[in-house]
Amino acid sequence: MSNITNFIKENKDRYLTELKHFLSFPSISTNPENKKDVLECAEYIKSHLEKIGLQNVAIYPTDGHPVVYADWLNAGKDKPTILVYGHYDVQPVDPIELWTSPPFEAEVRGENIYARGSADDKGQVMIHMKALEAHLAKNGSLPVNIKLIVEGEEEIGSVHLGDFISGHKDLLKCDVVVISDTSMYDKDVPAIGYALRGLCYMQLEVTGPNRDLHSGQYGGAVDNPINALAHIIAKLKDDKGKILIDGFYDDVVPLDKEEKEGFAKLPFSDKKYAKGLDVEELFGEEGYTTLERTWARPTLDCNGIWGGFMGEGAKTVLPSKAFAKISMRLVPNQDPDKIEKLFSAFVRKITPKTVKVKISGLHHGKGAMTPIDTKWMKAASKAMAQGFGKEPVFIREGGSIPIVLTFKEMLDADTVLLGFGLPDENAHSPDEHLNLNNFQNGILTSAIFYDELAKA
Ligand code: BES
Ligand code: ZN
Repeated sequence: MSNITNFIKENKDRYLTELKHFLSFPSISTNPENKKDVLECAEYIKSHLEKIGLQNVAIYPTDGHPVVYADWLNAGKDKPTILVYGHYDVQPVDPIELWTSPPFEAEVRGENIYARGSADDKGQVMIHMKALEAHLAKNGSLPVNIKLIVEGEEEIGSVHLGDFISGHKDLLKCDVVVISDTSMYDKDVPAIGYALRGLCYMQLEVTGPNRDLHSGQYGGAVDNPINALAHIIAKLKDDKGKILIDGFYDDVVPLDKEEKEGFAKLPFSDKKYAKGLDVEELFGEEGYTTLERTWARPTLDCNGIWGGFMGEGAKTVLPSKAFAKISMRLVPNQDPDKIEKLFSAFVRKITPKTVKVKISGLHHGKGAMTPIDTKWMKAASKAMAQGFGKEPVFIREGGSIPIVLTFKEMLDADTVLLGFGLPDENAHSPDEHLNLNNFQNGILTSAIFYDELAKA
């Protein structure tokens, strides 16, 4: 291993140049105008994987953005096969004016590299590519059989990846899945994730009168769809953070005593957390701690709301339409399809007769949970301890990677979440960044992890 450790140290500057190149593609999966950039990014990964010595490298088209696949299967039948998954698509960059440097021109400031996708997830995909490269460059081989897929639609709900997996079950057959698309617990606290939340994402369109009206002529006589929508949203949750949709909590499994105690043992300060966000006080479901609220309880949030006159100055108008995007984070046992039905029925029930409501589901993903006491988790834990010089903690995550459950259902494979980001690295927000020490340690950890998996 020492030859690999040295190789990783010696190649630090080159890694940075390569990471900057990877980060320069504006691979925003949700923007139709970036379709070409997304494809070019996939082609970049393909050529990079070929260069580092992976085999059967191919771009598989889907009905959306393509999947890049590669493997190296010469470790032998007695060695496990690891499926490494990541995504090369990124979130939109708006509000662009809040970026200190352009989002697709990566810049190093202090210990961090700033660019869209640096933490989520290109930096972490690069970590695995460099760990594989180190083994292949120094030993001419890998300690385990590796399959790698990097998709281009994670940020829009992995819309076509399920079909790709179900159509390529043999190609993707594996013993365990490894994903680096989550975070460490804190700056000096490496972590291994064992649960993710699911998601049910809805859109509401509320229509009042058949056209915009003069608010002087009609105001007072006709309901305003924006006001009606505000009332609907306000009725979805009480002021103690409890969601009021009938049946919403039916499938929520309460945290058991052991897990609750585990959460409570982790260092956490509400005060510090609030201060970092410039809020006077935190808000969440009554009776739960912040970690419980973000990891193990479902939520409902309005992600966007619009309608009426949004230009500068004033326009006296009673608008015809109002819109809102509402998402619910779900815990592993909740079914997004069922939640969509409950949400729709409840919204219909509380919508006044004065307006019409159109309810659409945008995308869904199931939560996931993996057992901690497996040999894969033990190998991950050993690798983290060596790579970071500190024992990792086992954590849940509040975010979603819907494909994790698909891997379980279609390939019968559990996932190890080996996250190298930090919770405050501004994923999905301006000035997204990745700590470069964690990037280097991540490469080392991943390289060690492959060795540990071979021994497992
Ligand atoms: N990397 C995140 C998932 C994540 C974030 C896990 C934070 C744990 C902590 C991923 O790229 C992501 O943002 N996923 C989306 C999924 C959605 C679009 C279906 C999410 O969680 O919003
Ligand atoms: Zn991600």
